[in-house]
Amino acid sequence: MTFSAADSRYDTIRFRRAGRSGLQLPEFSLGLWQNFGDNRSFTTQRDIVLRAFDLGVTHFDLANRYGPPSRSAEKNFGRIVREDLSPYREEIVVTTKAGNPIGASPYLSGGSRKHLLSSLDISLRDLGLDYVDIFYSHSPDLNTPLEETVGALVSAVRSGKALYAGISNYGRDRALEAAHLLAAEGVPLLVHQSRYSILDQHIDRDGILDAATETGTGTIAYSPLAQGLLTDKYLSGSVPQDSRAADSAFLSANDITADYVSHAEELNRIAQERGQSLPQLALQWVLRRPDVTSALIGASSVAQLEHNLAATGFAELSTDELARIDAHAVDLSPR
Ligand SMILES: NC(=O)c1ccc[n+]([C@@H]2O[C@H](COP(=O)([O-])OP(=O)(O)OC[C@H]3O[C@@H](n4cnc5c(N)ncnc54)[C@H](OP(=O)(O)O)[C@@H]3O)[C@@H](O)[C@H]2O)c1
Repeated sequence: MTFSAADSRYDTIRFRRAGRSGLQLPEFSLGLWQNFGDNRSFTTQRDIVLRAFDLGVTHFDLANRYGPPSRSAEKNFGRIVREDLSPYREEIVVTTKAGNPIGASPYLSGGSRKHLLSSLDISLRDLGLDYVDIFYSHSPDLNTPLEETVGALVSAVRSGKALYAGISNYGRDRALEAAHLLAAEGVPLLVHQSRYSILDQHIDRDGILDAATETGTGTIAYSPLAQGLLTDKYLSGSVPQDSRAADSAFLSANDITADYVSHAEELNRIAQERGQSLPQLALQWVLRRPDVTSALIGASSVAQLEHNLAATGFAELSTDELARIDAHAVDLSPR
């Protein structure tokens, strides 16, 4: 059946400006890292993406390595675009990244011009798009001159294959340097994408968020639920069969420690006192800073997506509540 987007799609979602740019992004963005590979039902993937769009989530985050296998999430999303979302191309922001390893070849990882630009061409082919909205350097590569990596981002934008440039997982000083190099080329750094949640506050602690704000760069906060640790699914201390900790290389049963459970229980109690769920509290916490452009969530079902997007309808977090949350903000987020 032909997809027809809901007329109500912009009624409730709120948008925030990405740094000092003209681009506005929804407070919630959908990431296709874990649930959009060939190991998941395509029907569920499609349902999640289309429901997200119907709820005003216009921003879809991909990378060459998302799957498994690598590149399959881009192919699957490309199919959804082709079959359903192509009439709405102007209304969606599609991002991709290159730089993290996708194979043993030296040309399949790192920040070289060779890898970044050839990977972007393959991403565009797999996505079936003429351009992506944001092209990212996925991680810093300390063995490649930053000028080369930045030069590749500039080329991507100048060639029209990307509208904006982004970086991800950079430290403070390298992010500042990248921002200055890009600005000198007239291609402002749009966004810095970093992990940020109650259980991983390093971008606050290390000045990464403040540095982005100073340079007019937006911040995209990924894994705001610490991959599911900031939900109630692991509170019993066991690992449900259909959860990420049961079937992902990035979260495991070893992460569900007694220490984790005791902190998560306390955070859950604070959420319940406020009349919301733990994931809703965790998302509201990430978005409490106005300079966080968007919380980049994952979802393995439409129900999770809908539940999480309801996170903004609650009273502001008080100073007292923020202090209570901080008492349990131990760094338990898996690497
Ligand atoms: N730049 C980078 O290096 C980088 C790295 C990581 C991620 N990212 C981006 O960030 C996106 C989001 O990352 P993430 O998936 O780790 O985000 P997340 O929002 O922290 O975790 C999402 C996972 O939590 C569980 N979940 C979500 N809502 C739930 C709910 N209401 N109740 C119970 N469980 C719930 C689901 O896992 P289950 O499978 O257990 O249901 C879901 O897949 C990625 O897709 C990617 O786009 C970027």
